[in-house]
Amino acid sequence: MTGREFNGLQLTPCYERGTMSCLSCHEMHPDEGDPRSLEEWRIDQLRPGMRGNAACTSCHPSFLDARALAQHTHHAPDSPGSQCMSCHMPRTTYGLLGAISSHTLTSPDVKVELATTRPNACNLCHLDRPLAWAAAELQRGWNVEAPSALSSEQQQVAAGALWALKGHALQRAILAWHMGWPDAQRAAGTEWMTPYLVNLLDDPYDAVRQIADRSLRSLPGTKPYRYDPLGASPDRRAAAAQVLAGWDGRERSPDSTARPHVLLDPSGQPIREEFSRLLRERDQRRVLIAE
Ligand code: HEC
Ligand code: HEC
Ligand code: HEC
Ligand code: HEC
Repeated sequence: MTGREFNGLQLTPCYERGTMSCLSCHEMHPDEGDPRSLEEWRIDQLRPGMRGNAACTSCHPSFLDARALAQHTHHAPDSPGSQCMSCHMPRTTYGLLGAISSHTLTSPDVKVELATTRPNACNLCHLDRPLAWAAAELQRGWNVEAPSALSSEQQQVAAGALWALKGHALQRAILAWHMGWPDAQRAAGTEWMTPYLVNLLDDPYDAVRQIADRSLRSLPGTKPYRYDPLGASPDRRAAAAQVLAGWDGRERSPDSTARPHVLLDPSGQPIREEFSRLLRERDQRRVLIAE
């Protein structure tokens, strides 16, 4: 249990100005006749359908109409990019070796990321795109004002690459989880992710290593490997080298015209100088998360 949900919800207009409560989405007991098994129900104790847009359309009914939904989300109605929570409750809360939906409802805004270091919802799916791309799309599609200045890196390098290499521990944990998330894999493609996750196999934080290991194994084409996230660093590095050696970048050649921002060379290998430079600039602040 992560324990910050109530503080989160208190900051939400649906709660402040509406009647939203925990029981809008959760329940203490499943209804009789609920088709879900008790095992499935008890994971988050959600009322039926509350992982989807029904959690929102009870109070925001205009989005029940598929055309209105697509007009608002700028994604096809059945796209993961049309799920309210993926934009308004992105998984930026760390807990139990995973990323959990933030219980403060917000709207994606790159300026907020710059002020807080909390990854923006668009790039949590579009990991292969720079921050500047999200800022420009948000301005174009939703009239969300773009930040006045972004560094050349924020303009040119994929947000996912920057979080993985120079981000702080919490950004790395959230990033590593999203690389294993089917919705983000669909939006960003997986063929470029291996070198980033391999790098995180020797992360100084136990939690980051465990999450990276899980996501790496979920990538299509990862061959079985032996690795203990709690093992000694030399062993972890040996496993990482083994995965990278077995990974044929060319076979999965990242289309460098489609994804020019992910710092891989045309043969699919990481551009060493870029990786090292960004790693040297890593945000080393200590992050302590009590669970
Ligand atoms: C708008 C719907 C909604 C509301 C309102 C809501 N939740 Fe949630 N909650 C969710 C969803 C969806 C999940 C599953 C999140 C995930 O898997 O990322 C969840 C997950 C959780 C979890 C599990 C986190 C974990 O560790 O796995 C807890 C605890 C929780 N909510 C507590 C609360 C509390 C307390 C409130 C009221 C203050 C609340 N929620 C209000 C939708 C909601
Ligand atoms: C219990 C009713 C209720 C539910 C459920 C609900 N909302 Fe709201 N929501 C409101 C009310 C009321 C407002 C404030 C409207 C106003 O002030 O005009 C609001 C405002 C908002 C805003 C505007 C925020 C702002 O800064 O002005 C967003 C975004 C939003 N809701 C998204 C969602 C999403 C996404 C969900 C589902 C996860 C959801 N809401 C579920 C009642 C609800
Ligand atoms: C692809 C991302 C995305 C998805 C999916 C999405 N929204 Fe939004 N939403 C935004 C953005 C961006 C804004 C603009 C915030 C602003 O104006 O600052 C916004 C604004 C809002 C607002 C406040 C302004 C308004 O237009 O009324 C509400 C309410 C809202 N969304 C509800 C929802 C609900 C309910 C869903 C699901 C049915 C949903 N959104 C799905 C991105 C999204
Ligand atoms: C839950 C994952 C998810 C989120 C969040 C999301 N998208 Fe998408 N997006 C997708 C997927 C998947 C596609 C590919 C088309 C499809 O399958 O629907 C896509 C396609 C797009 C496209 C067209 C193709 C391209 O890559 O240029 C744009 C533009 C886009 N999204 C912008 C955004 C913006 C801006 C946001 C934030 C407001 C956002 N998306 C949030 C999943 C997401």
